[in-house]
Amino acid sequence: MTSSPVSRSFGVMAETTTSHRERVAIVTGASKGLGLALARALATRGWRLVLDARGVDALTRVGTELRRQTRVVTVTGDVADEEHRVRLVDEAARLGRLELLVNNASALGPSPQPALADYPLCELRSVYEVNVLAPLRLVQLALPQLVASRGQVVNVSSDAAVEPYAGWGGYGSSKAGLEQLSNVLAAEHPELGVLWVDPGDMRTDLHQAAFPGEDISDRPPPEASVPGLLALLERGAPSGRYRIEAVGDAGPGGGPDGADAATPGELVGR
Ligand SMILES: NC(=O)c1ccc[n+]([C@@H]2O[C@H](COP(=O)([O-])OP(=O)(O)OC[C@H]3O[C@@H](n4cnc5c(N)ncnc54)[C@H](OP(=O)(O)O)[C@@H]3O)[C@@H](O)[C@H]2O)c1
Repeated sequence: MTSSPVSRSFGVMAETTTSHRERVAIVTGASKGLGLALARALATRGWRLVLDARGVDALTRVGTELRRQTRVVTVTGDVADEEHRVRLVDEAARLGRLELLVNNASALGPSPQPALADYPLCELRSVYEVNVLAPLRLVQLALPQLVASRGQVVNVSSDAAVEPYAGWGGYGSSKAGLEQLSNVLAAEHPELGVLWVDPGDMRTDLHQAAFPGEDISDRPPPEASVPGLLALLERGAPSGRYRIEAVGDAGPGGGPDGADAATPGELVGR
């Protein structure tokens, strides 16, 4: 297996007044869509970043852009590749104190999505490799660092994990698997913040592939989901399932899905 190209030419870090300067986050799938929008927001807040995507050109551009603000390591590769996953976690350890793992990269599966009756199992295996096994493996590899920092894991899910949309059985069941992995991980590691998050509909390439030929211009941009995500991270939200739409409605005190809004005092320590 070939090594993933790694870009480690750190840029000049902008002066920042945040206390996050030494904090490191891994964000998978950060060359576009939600991953890029979140990476930009974290860079603004002084987080050091380890970012990946399969396409080298877009990821290189993102690295160049964000190095104006913080230290960034870009690692080109596929989260389904074990060597690539090991490299992501190793780079995070070199960069500082890993406090956040965002499993964002995702596979939709074939477009248009087949009904379950016709779903080719080889395609389903690939979807599960990316959406279920890769996030779990990254958690396994990062766990010593995350436990040491009492850090946070964000597993990006979808309403398709819980809603029986016809045609969404492959992707949706993979996200359901990711959600239950998250749920058990939270039980096994109460010292971590484990958040499984439905970001809502977003106008992205993945969404367009899910609705081929349709006009998706009425969907909000991925940047619209970032403030809710940041609110969860910055207040150390308790482990649980969150819908960003509901976090926005409930304000910074919004609790996990199905739970009443928690008071700020309840949000400290997990
Ligand atoms: N868009 C929506 O409406 C929506 C709704 C609910 C949930 N979500 C979830 O939100 C997350 C972000 O989705 P998005 O809509 O922002 O997608 P997107 O715009 O298509 O971006 C996906 C990112 O992940 C990278 N990526 C894809 N497969 C990868 C792999 N195997 N290994 C490494 N990187 C990979 C892509 O770059 P390369 O292609 O170059 O690898 C890209 O940077 C996903 O978990 C998705 O399931 C999205």
